[in-house]
Amino acid sequence: MKNILSHKKVLITGANGGLGVAIAKELATLKCHLFLTARNRSSLEQLASDLHEISPEVEIFSADLTKEIELKELEKKVRSTFQSIDILINCAGVFPVASISESTLEEFDACFALNVRAPFFLSKAFLPDMMTRQWGRVVNIGSSSAFSGFKDTSIYCASKHALLGLSRALYQEMRDSNVRVISINPGSIKTEMGKKSDDQEFSTFLNPEDIAKYLAFSIAIDSELIAEEIRLNRFVIR
Ligand SMILES: NC(=O)c1ccc[n+]([C@@H]2O[C@H](COP(=O)([O-])OP(=O)(O)OC[C@H]3O[C@@H](n4cnc5c(N)ncnc54)[C@H](OP(=O)(O)O)[C@@H]3O)[C@@H](O)[C@H]2O)c1
Repeated sequence: MKNILSHKKVLITGANGGLGVAIAKELATLKCHLFLTARNRSSLEQLASDLHEISPEVEIFSADLTKEIELKELEKKVRSTFQSIDILINCAGVFPVASISESTLEEFDACFALNVRAPFFLSKAFLPDMMTRQWGRVVNIGSSSAFSGFKDTSIYCASKHALLGLSRALYQEMRDSNVRVISINPGSIKTEMGKKSDDQEFSTFLNPEDIAKYLAFSIAIDSELIAEEIRLNRFVIR
């Protein structure tokens, strides 16, 4: 199969996290040009130096995506290096775990700012270019929490339901412009975030590398076929 992802310009948020690293590595092997962002600059630098061996171009930018000014700086930096992007992967996320009585409005606002408002801002920033070029992909990393409610995670579940709503609306809005908005919703993953789900057995969680491969496969489909909502779970033969 022809590698249509070769030299595509990709912005990945949450790029130094467990899933973000796996996606960055997978897309680097497919020869994408990568623009990686998260807050922690030193881990981004380390990742970029690992990826330089395999990817034609890797750029990094440290930003707190809960802050509007830093979102705007990120957009500016992406434009000054790549002009525009072909693929946006909204992977950054936080997972507050607390009962409703222990949850605060500040935690609610911070979670929604990262899990929902940042993908909204970046979609608004970069979708028009993709529409003009009649090609683009936006991937929103949701969760099984976009489809179900789980105890002590009301803020997170609400944020992932909201992100799914954003994806569904943009999927419809982009249909005439050959820009595909895809919502990928994994169950628990073997990452630092996954360790917070301490009521489940970590060894049974999904491997981030498997999810990254599925993501790459999904965005590379360029025929009339599309799976706009993907739920990824572990399948165990009993
Ligand atoms: N792990 C799971 O079990 C699981 C299951 C389903 C869905 N997901 C979803 O998968 C995505 C990736 O999660 P993960 O498991 O890879 O989590 P992770 O390892 O904790 O990574 C989270 C990422 O988000 C970044 N981030 C956190 N706060 C940020 C902020 N204010 N501004 C910018 N970046 C920020 C982190 O980098 P910095 O700290 O350097 O900023 C990191 O790159 C998330 O959207 C999550 O909701 C995870």
